[in-house]
Amino acid sequence: MTEDIDYEIDPEDLPDRVERKPLGPPSVVVDDLHITYRVFGARRGGTTKERSSLWDKAISLGRPDTGPITEVPAVRGVSFVAHHGESIGILGTNGSGKSTLLRAVAGLLPPTSGRVFTSAEPELLGVNAALLPRLTGERNITIGGLALGLSNKEVRRNIPGVSEFAELGDFLYLPMSSYSSGMASRLRFAISTIRTPEILMIDEALATGDASFRKKSTARIEEIRAQAGTVFFVSHSLASVRAMCTRALWIDKGVLVADGDVDVVADAYHEYVEGRSDASSGAKLN
Ligand SMILES: Nc1ncnc2c1ncn2[C@@H]1O[C@H](COP(=O)(O)OP(=O)(O)OP(=O)(O)O)[C@@H](O)[C@H]1O
Ligand SMILES: [Mg+2]
Repeated sequence: MTEDIDYEIDPEDLPDRVERKPLGPPSVVVDDLHITYRVFGARRGGTTKERSSLWDKAISLGRPDTGPITEVPAVRGVSFVAHHGESIGILGTNGSGKSTLLRAVAGLLPPTSGRVFTSAEPELLGVNAALLPRLTGERNITIGGLALGLSNKEVRRNIPGVSEFAELGDFLYLPMSSYSSGMASRLRFAISTIRTPEILMIDEALATGDASFRKKSTARIEEIRAQAGTVFFVSHSLASVRAMCTRALWIDKGVLVADGDVDVVADAYHEYVEGRSDASSGAKLN
């Protein structure tokens, strides 16, 4: 599974390792969280079942028969406590449930069972900043800023800084449809971090940035962490997770299989992925 393996990052481009600091009070508590997706109209695989409950019949009323429902258990019984001042890497192979977990903690997906408590509204990078391709960068910064709760005045004050951070230049006044994917993700990052959120979640958002932007965004993340925020960072790059995080969670098939010091968990995950990929690929992890 080569998509699980990052071999592009030059070790010299990596930031210095984040500094460990004493932990603050809890910011996120996840208690026996289960998230199960229900996919309608699937014909095979998974735990497919016919619509039999009253609820299933009620929600299918008036709709054409789309066939049976498949349940996909994406997160299964995950529990952990995160603290202020921690940056936590989330590791796991494709489809293991990392994005689902982040979306649930961010409040974008209701738990099927279990509970999530947060000390503030988490900000999931790249989702809260849903950018509109037909509008200019400037308009998108305005809308994004207002969506984050900034006043008109604050938004106007922030436009030059965001544009500079995202290195837009004159593209600030062009529709985002003319941006490269790297530029768009830089802008998304810059908008999402206009405010220093208490809980920041990043789902591979830095993957499209070039090395110099990666350095800059890492510095910004460190700034947020230094202000006692909590950062969650999902990445397939073990080297970035080691550099940017102090702790890591490893999720496999929706189950939390390891939670602890970033190096210990990253070593165990590395060994697991290497073992899996030996047969199919010779690529190496960073
Ligand atoms: N909207 C959805 N509807 C149904 N199933 C979904 C949905 N989104 C994700 N899944 C399934 O849930 C499981 C977990 O997916 P998720 O996207 O959370 O994994 P991931 O660890 O983020 O993977 P990747 O590394 O590829 O980003 C997978 O089996 C996936 O197929
Ligand atoms: Mg994902």
